[in-house]
Amino acid sequence: SAERTLSILKPNAVAKNVIGSIYARFENAGFTIVGAKMLHLTREQAAGFYAEHDGKPFFNGLLDFMTSGPVVVQVLEGENAVQRYRDLMGATNPANALAGTLRADYADSLTENAVHGSDSAASAAREIAYFFSEGEVHSRIR
Ligand code: CMP
Repeated sequence: SAERTLSILKPNAVAKNVIGSIYARFENAGFTIVGAKMLHLTREQAAGFYAEHDGKPFFNGLLDFMTSGPVVVQVLEGENAVQRYRDLMGATNPANALAGTLRADYADSLTENAVHGSDSAASAAREIAYFFSEGEVHSRIR
């Protein structure tokens, strides 16, 4: 059924000047962008977003990277959006990402992997609410 997921174009993707190219990939894959904003995350914002990874060996490096420049955050809507967007992104580690996926095309490393996507419907609800107020999501589904 129709659902929403939270997507982030990470600082390396924004720095490559491929926001529009990636948005076209979203639209060509059948997603509707129903909310969008550019943000330069503070360390506190990034830590709150990635709270589940607090204490892991890559956490501080992840925060360094995610606060290194602006990101573009969007809400994508479509049928089975959480899983279909994960398929479009490809594996977290770009070394394992299939050809034609966003990470195969735009990632630089496991940390600088170009895009984020929610890993479940429950994560999507939390992550969308983390960045967007209700009035900032122009969706027909609730
Ligand atoms: P993301 O989907 O945004 O969720 C957590 C991020 O941590 C992940 O993408 C990677 O950018 C980053 N990361 C860095 N090292 C690791 C690792 N060893 N395992 C998982 N994620 C990692």
